Amino acid sequence: MERETHTSFTEQESLPEIPQHFASQAFQFQELMMMYNCAIREVRTKLEVLNDELSIRHKRNPIKHITSRIKRPLSIIQKLKRYEAPFTVEAVEENLNDVAGIRVICSFIDDIYAIADMLLQQDDIRLIRKKDYIQSPKPNGYRSLHLILEIPVFFSEQKKNMRVEVQIRTIAMDFWASVDHQLKYKQDVENPEMVSAELKECADIIAQTDARMLAIKNQIYSNDSFHRSLQDKLEKLELPLNL
Ligand code: GTP
Ligand code: MG
Repeated sequence: MERETHTSFTEQESLPEIPQHFASQAFQFQELMMMYNCAIREVRTKLEVLNDELSIRHKRNPIKHITSRIKRPLSIIQKLKRYEAPFTVEAVEENLNDVAGIRVICSFIDDIYAIADMLLQQDDIRLIRKKDYIQSPKPNGYRSLHLILEIPVFFSEQKKNMRVEVQIRTIAMDFWASVDHQLKYKQDVENPEMVSAELKECADIIAQTDARMLAIKNQIYSNDSFHRSLQDKLEKLELPLNL
């Protein structure tokens, strides 16, 4: 047993020496990614809580689904380079707002603003930046509501304010963005100008459709809550009641 340990120790000894600052940065980087991951979990939970509450109150889910991701190390390095920032852990925290990213997909446009407002009202959330690409779409037709939030996360020995990028959009806007994203990363598309023009047109049709779907939803739910009789409400209550 002792012998084995000794052998592996000698093998390690023969490895090239790892500079102390590299080892320390690698460890700090891993720790920072863990922290961003925890921040994502905090914000996701807040969104799930809102969705659960609203689904009981209105009998429908404003959020269709939520996805999240941590930015890949290569993308982090590329962005730091673009910002001419040093490749350090501190520079990641200082310069990048989208290491932790959450995407919230809603059915209707008004759900997007309702969810954003409810999130921003919470007193532990600080809004760093808001970009409303629904009010002001990007020239290519991209629509979404972007929020950069800061949220405190409690670790064993410290409270750390972490930044999270939240993108909120409709199902239709998300479909559009995923096709647009594919176009961006494909180098060999024939006639890319024509594809872009076609995509822009689709974005406008999608915006009109989202507006019409909202109008339909408002008609379906026009006599929601206030005008329903108590009897109606009781019938819809799913809990077993011992009346
Ligand atoms: P980035 O350097 O891309 O993060 O830009 P930014 O810091 O100016 O932020 P912005 O809010 O404009 O965009 C952030 C993110 O939104 C991007 O990383 C994409 O995920 C998404 N996004 C922005 N514009 C587009 C677009 O035209 N098409 C698609 N598919 N996604 C977009
Ligand atoms: Mg980004």
